[in-house]
Amino acid sequence: MNEHVSTIQTLALELIAAASDERTLDEARVSVLGKKGTLSLAGAAIKDVPGDQKAAFGQALNTARAAITSALEEKQNALLEIADRAALSGIDLTLPARPVPIGALHPLTLIRDEAVQILRRMGFALADGPEIEDEFHCFDALNTPADHPARNEKDTFYFNSGKLLRTHTSSVQVRMMETATLPIRIIAPGSAYRRDEIDATHLSVFNQLEGLYVDTDVTLPDLKGTLEYFFHEMFGTTTEVRFRPHFFPFTEPSFEIDVKLQVKGQAPRWIEVAGCGIVDPAVFEAINATRKDRVLDHGKVTGFAFGMGLDRLAMIRWAIKDIRLLIENDIRFLSQFA
Ligand code: DAH
Repeated sequence: MNEHVSTIQTLALELIAAASDERTLDEARVSVLGKKGTLSLAGAAIKDVPGDQKAAFGQALNTARAAITSALEEKQNALLEIADRAALSGIDLTLPARPVPIGALHPLTLIRDEAVQILRRMGFALADGPEIEDEFHCFDALNTPADHPARNEKDTFYFNSGKLLRTHTSSVQVRMMETATLPIRIIAPGSAYRRDEIDATHLSVFNQLEGLYVDTDVTLPDLKGTLEYFFHEMFGTTTEVRFRPHFFPFTEPSFEIDVKLQVKGQAPRWIEVAGCGIVDPAVFEAINATRKDRVLDHGKVTGFAFGMGLDRLAMIRWAIKDIRLLIENDIRFLSQFA
């Protein structure tokens, strides 16, 4: 009986050695170890083996199975290695890899992050508000009368509900003053929307950064110092900055800020970059009325506010001539910022 098993083993090992691919190896495995395989059938015959020989027979079976299994495994590995080598033949592993394109931040993101960093160093904290606003936060609380042109349907995107897409980030000022305790020192970068005719300097969605500082002793020199420092950090300390009297409903006095642009080969020119001013007491009063307290008592509390166009800052920084480039996602344009 045991000789029979050893013959099976010898034949099996020959079959395995002769197998030249996965398929013939698998056939060899089935023909020996499969349900009707030679070794399985021999094993089934153990019941006919006389009792005193059963143990020796069982051992012979186990030894044969172990030898066959490990031969199968070895052969399997050897075949895999041959296949791997064949797959790699003709491939030059010393060739340099294909370059992987690396993404980059959008210029608007770069300029926003830089503006935020400068202002955070001065103690301003980030604030946020909804882009779908109501008239109270966008206009009424900001002392903007019902007949102000900004409120016109021709200039502003209104929803049927009476809500609107905020026309400026100044609405975030109101939201902060409604809930905050003093001092309030916030900045709010974000989108604003207007029904502007689209051209090289206008889009119907653009980006602003709003700032507000309210406390018991905020003065006009604080405003000037803060924004002058900001634009010097942004465009270099030799950049000239001027404050030009202007009108905004929510600040009094109000100014527009210009920086002097020096482009090589061109005459220097002033370019408007922000609006700002001392918070109008009427704004504090409107908010006190909704807060139902007098935390913003204009006898005791003063503040300054500013709003700047981030698209404009990016256009100045990189001499971008057409604002539409900022939203077209043309890779030839964007890859210059990588
Ligand atoms: N909201 C104004 C605009 O969109 C900009 C502005 C001007 C914001 C004066 C201010 C400010 O906070 O004080 O044109």
